[in-house]
Amino acid sequence: MVFFIQSELRLLSGYYVMKKILRALSGETFTSPPIWMMRQAGRYLPEYREIRKQAGSFLDLCYSPELAAEVTLQPIRRFGFDAAILFADILLIPDGLGQNVAFEEGRGPVLEPLEVGKNLKGLSLDGCLEHLAPVFETVERVKKDLPDEVALIGFCGAPWTVATYMIAGHGTSDQKPARLAAYQDPVWFQAVIDLLNESSIDYLNAQIAAGCEAVQIFDSWSGVLPEAEFLQWCVAPLKKIISGVRAQHPNIPIIGFPRGAGLFYESFVENTKVDAVSIDTAMSLPWVRTHLQNRVTVQGNLDPLLVVQGGDRLEYQVKYILSELGSGPLVFNLGHGLVPETPVENVARIIELVRSNNVES
Ligand code: CP3
Repeated sequence: MVFFIQSELRLLSGYYVMKKILRALSGETFTSPPIWMMRQAGRYLPEYREIRKQAGSFLDLCYSPELAAEVTLQPIRRFGFDAAILFADILLIPDGLGQNVAFEEGRGPVLEPLEVGKNLKGLSLDGCLEHLAPVFETVERVKKDLPDEVALIGFCGAPWTVATYMIAGHGTSDQKPARLAAYQDPVWFQAVIDLLNESSIDYLNAQIAAGCEAVQIFDSWSGVLPEAEFLQWCVAPLKKIISGVRAQHPNIPIIGFPRGAGLFYESFVENTKVDAVSIDTAMSLPWVRTHLQNRVTVQGNLDPLLVVQGGDRLEYQVKYILSELGSGPLVFNLGHGLVPETPVENVARIIELVRSNNVES
């Protein structure tokens, strides 16, 4: 416990003060909420593209602690966000389990697809954490160089979303192969999910042990499932993972991101017991305020394409989010990740607007 307190708090003028984003995640409201952005480290930054060239492949970058720590820190140095997000990828788990994963230029992830119904002997938890050890070293390196007031967020993909890539062998617009597999052979599909549950618990616990101060679970493709399947393949695995993480780290803030879940967001929050929920661009903010923010901290939900566009419409929307959600616990963020064509000055402008907020909400 003493250990936890020392790692979560910092000394300021004789008092221990918790980092702003951790206070927001535990339910505190700020006039000017903490801010970070999904995919804040990435190709829109010239300094990222430079390191990416040096590293060789994207996976090489993820597994090179020195370079991965550097790109984690780049957006903190440039913009002064309230949180850094560990530089890694949700597909490192299938890679660690023994499935062949590669990232091809201009094509995205390519995996050797799982065959539905076939035994999963090619995948194994043995050695998975050892394979992922460079990620934990990245966490340690980032923690050494991170400014005192900035928190480090770890993450993993939710089992459903990771399974969509493992089964299709690549990204898909409709996740058809995994959706069909779950209907065709639910017992086999559950075995894939179970493997991901276990590896995700170990992976998150190791990230936290190495120094991550909050974690986010990305369920980027949860929005394609009907209600019963959403409960079975998104909510149930998250409940398992969250209880497995809390068994070792009872006080770690956990953010869930069931992207596209619409009205199911409410049962997601109620059943998974996340501390915070990240909302996508398509959510109604008055609804979020009355149905989600009364229970948990909310994070979101600026459209990343509006960040590309900039201008008055962007300024209006930043203020709209602050006025709709600023009277409760909020972490300012996007509804999905920044895209490569984002002008850096638009990111800086959003931070300026959020930091200067003194709205009457
Ligand atoms: O700054 C950060 O957000 C931290 C690092 C991070 C990456 N991916 C780096 C990355 C995080 C948190 C992710 C999560 C991730 N990865 C998700 C969930 C969030 C979401 O976007 O929905 C998913 C679905 C993936 C899988 C993935 N990784 C895809 C489909 C792709 C290819 C598409 C693309 O954007 O290039 C990646 C590659 C990837 N992951 C890049 C980065 C910076 C770009 C790779 C490059 O530099 O060439």
